[in-house]
Amino acid sequence: MKQTILVTGGTGFIGSHTTVELIQAGYNVVIADNLSNSKREVIGGIKKITGIEPAFEFIDLCNKEATREMLQRYRIDGIIHFAASKAVGESVEKPLMYYRNNITSLVNLLELMPEHNIKGVIFSSSCTVYGQPRPENLPVTEDAPHQKATSPYGNTKEINEQIIQDYIHSGAPIKSIVLRYFNPIGAHPSALIGELPNGKPNNLIPYVTQTAMGILEQLTIFGNDYDTPDGTCIRDYIYVVDLAKAHVAAMTRVLKKDTAALEYFNIGTGRGNSTREIVETFEKATGVKLNYTYGPRRAGDIEKIWGDCTKANTILGWKADTPLEDVLVSAWKWQLKLREDGVM
Ligand code: UD1
Repeated sequence: MKQTILVTGGTGFIGSHTTVELIQAGYNVVIADNLSNSKREVIGGIKKITGIEPAFEFIDLCNKEATREMLQRYRIDGIIHFAASKAVGESVEKPLMYYRNNITSLVNLLELMPEHNIKGVIFSSSCTVYGQPRPENLPVTEDAPHQKATSPYGNTKEINEQIIQDYIHSGAPIKSIVLRYFNPIGAHPSALIGELPNGKPNNLIPYVTQTAMGILEQLTIFGNDYDTPDGTCIRDYIYVVDLAKAHVAAMTRVLKKDTAALEYFNIGTGRGNSTREIVETFEKATGVKLNYTYGPRRAGDIEKIWGDCTKANTILGWKADTPLEDVLVSAWKWQLKLREDGVM
């Protein structure tokens, strides 16, 4: 019998791509989302790609009674918990909103899992827990020391990791895999789903594609005086479809009987690219010239980080292998589709 996975935040950027991969891997999916940062139409895109329309629950997971009532209506085997607020700047302005949304929803789900005999949860964490690793710790492994978060958003990731750890150590009858993502980018090759930032984007790739489209006038590269080969920051940019596939591998593993109760995996490519390399690769891969300039550093930015993903490669049997050129072309195709559809 097919297993059923609850995907919270399933209409969001990573959630929608993961829903597609889960359906294609033979799982039933129930999406729970409050549409605070996504649109219901995303479900149409998922259906076009997979031929299957996942169940959709419009719900605020901070409401425990509503969440309980939802879980009573399905027989859920596992949860992938994406639903969270994720804008770094906004979290500095509205810290309590971030603590309430991101922490209450996780606590509610964890409390309800044993009640409904749900065995495994995959949690979306971030490489932000490592802060700026020391040079000898690059590429960063799962054992690298954590550093104090520079924003309430980052802090919620650290706190949620600890909540899961404490709960499992208390003997709770659940298992968890914590995935620490590096920088997810790109869109499904069909251009039927992708990233849809609200307002002016903060993240690099939507800023690049919107500038290339002429929606934004110019991209500013934040700082070119960093201690890196070309002076711009370095990140580990991972294709969202590769990232989605890591969730399928993690879900399969967490629901197996003989695996550890709690595991952590870095989910990246193992390679670092500078902001300038991203811009130049985008221009080369798409043939579109980008209007960009160099500006001052952005407060709170990390100079360089990329992941050692050997653990995920060997234990999950998963690898991010899509070439960067193809990933950037997918982001551009998605931007073109948004134009074609009159979205922006
Ligand atoms: C940020 C968050 C991270 C979060 C992630 C969610 C910080 C310090 N980190 O990652 O915690 O998990 O978003 O997606 O905010 N850049 C420019 N010009 C731009 C935009 C970005 O030069 O207009 C540069 C940035 O300086 C950075 C790189 O592009 O070096 C990537 O930036 P971004 O996409 O915002 O991701 P992070 O800052 O790595």
